[in-house]
Amino acid sequence: APDISLANVKAHLSALQTIANQNGGNRASGRPGYPASVSYVAQKLRDAGYNVTLQTCSSCAGSNQNVIAEWPQGDASQVIMLGAHLDSVSAGPGINDNGSGSASILEVALTLARENPAMAKRVRFGWWADEESGLRGSKFYVNSLPQTERTKIKTYLNFDMIGSDNWGYFVYDDVASVKAVFDEYFRTIGIQTEGDTEGDGRSDHASFKSAGIPVGGLATGAGYTKSAAQQQKWGGTAGRPFDSCYHRACDTLSNIPDTPLEKNSDAIAYALWKLAVGTSTGPD
Ligand code: PHE
Ligand code: ZN
Ligand code: ZN
Ligand code: ZN
Repeated sequence: APDISLANVKAHLSALQTIANQNGGNRASGRPGYPASVSYVAQKLRDAGYNVTLQTCSSCAGSNQNVIAEWPQGDASQVIMLGAHLDSVSAGPGINDNGSGSASILEVALTLARENPAMAKRVRFGWWADEESGLRGSKFYVNSLPQTERTKIKTYLNFDMIGSDNWGYFVYDDVASVKAVFDEYFRTIGIQTEGDTEGDGRSDHASFKSAGIPVGGLATGAGYTKSAAQQQKWGGTAGRPFDSCYHRACDTLSNIPDTPLEKNSDAIAYALWKLAVGTSTGPD
């Protein structure tokens, strides 16, 4: 799998910060910073050769749009989908929550297009509207799919908060075989992970899981407190939250460290290549 450019991920984050700055300080669904974020992501994807669909989510604040991008190669009946919510809360610009997941999968998508490897499976990306008021964009998307389309999605991988300032390395434990792919990557770079519990039911993977789709994902922690054992394992500061700016105005570009952003972006590429790239992949 390729090394994902940290500089490029940070350039996307910088663009999202600028969008918030120019639109009242946030990128919340129903506010002007959200459609500006959609335009940024969609244009990058179109320029790279993706088929991009903007899906109007009528149940979302402002009837804002989901961005869906499919890489037009590989078996269309076997889809690996990666997603991240593109909205912030109204309190701040949402650079970790969830500019981090949004920027990281955007750069992974652009890297896939640039490398253009032979594909075993179809890869689709989703940037969700209005996660913050109840996973509305992703629920709308899943509900809009006929059952035949849902069963084509073999795995949905979610990335929400992957650059927390007092980070941990959490891997969703919903599906053991999916968790194992991420754990395999982190083992090669000498990082110990833990199963994620803080995010259970609290991000867009829940919309897919409810529909019976296997899910996985990564997170570096939100409002939960880092334990002494976790400080031993990962460094940082025990007794403090994983993200000191969770849902606050200070969730800015200066609140997001390079290390977890870099490692998690590379882990995402590793998993995507493992699950979808090649000429054949296992029994699925
Ligand atoms: N980031 C989610 C939100 O938008 C909540 C969450 C917490 C998700 C922890 C994953 C892990 O508020
Ligand atoms: Zn890298
Ligand atoms: Zn949030
Ligand atoms: Zn979030």
